[in-house]
Amino acid sequence: MTNIAIIGTGRMAQGLGAGWVRAGHRVVFGSRNPAEKSGLVSEIGNGASVTLPAAAVAWADVVVLAIPFAQVKTFAREHAPQLAGKLVVDISNPFDQLPDNRIAGAELTAAAIGDGARVVAAFKDNFWETLPTPEDPGGLPRDVHFAGDSDDDRQRVAQLVTDLGFRPVDCGPLKNARALDAMVPLLVELDQRLNNGQHSSSWKFLR
Ligand SMILES: NC(=O)c1ccc[n+]([C@@H]2O[C@H](COP(=O)([O-])OP(=O)(O)OC[C@H]3O[C@@H](n4cnc5c(N)ncnc54)[C@H](OP(=O)(O)O)[C@@H]3O)[C@@H](O)[C@H]2O)c1
Repeated sequence: MTNIAIIGTGRMAQGLGAGWVRAGHRVVFGSRNPAEKSGLVSEIGNGASVTLPAAAVAWADVVVLAIPFAQVKTFAREHAPQLAGKLVVDISNPFDQLPDNRIAGAELTAAAIGDGARVVAAFKDNFWETLPTPEDPGGLPRDVHFAGDSDDDRQRVAQLVTDLGFRPVDCGPLKNARALDAMVPLLVELDQRLNNGQHSSSWKFLR
């Protein structure tokens, strides 16, 4: 059982949190307005609670950043002493807020945390709509790509992905998150052109 803090209470946070609670993990959401989010916790059930972001970070072994990309760097900087040494899963998508693919959003997050940063980029190219259906209608498990510099941390994320019912695809070091960032706008465009914009599509790696 892992203590997982999910910062943010939006669509990705709820989907991931519900899945991890079902898998037996403890989840604490970090919200700017925890008092207004009690409904979310009762929906997800035992094993979930909501508090302020700093308290959620302090409690957790794993911290998932499920807030808008524009807020991530500031959040990482402000909570750097508490985030250092913890596994931080950055799911935020920069889209056009990065100049090109010479740096990944998650690399900026790691730099903002500084010494002791353990950042893994993950779930970037998974639409929130697909979180309740880790297999497509044909029974094919959907992939979750992730990248990070520590083998141990990537293995831990692989287990958390498996616990959700998805197929983990280890993409190696954090610099490979540059490619993951770029896969997201292409997925959105293909979903629009080939899937009526239903957000039910996923990338699939086949050996
Ligand atoms: N939507 C997708 O399909 C998808 C897929 C992969 C990755 N992502 C990434 O996952 C992250 C969350 O996406 P989402 O779709 O779940 O977003 P969302 O539904 O808009 O939720 C974002 C959450 O972030 C928190 N937050 C903190 N500071 C904020 C601010 N200044 N403005 C707005 N919200 C703020 C809010 O929680 P509180 O109000 O409780 O603080 C809010 O519920 C984003 O970085 C996104 O790029 C999204």
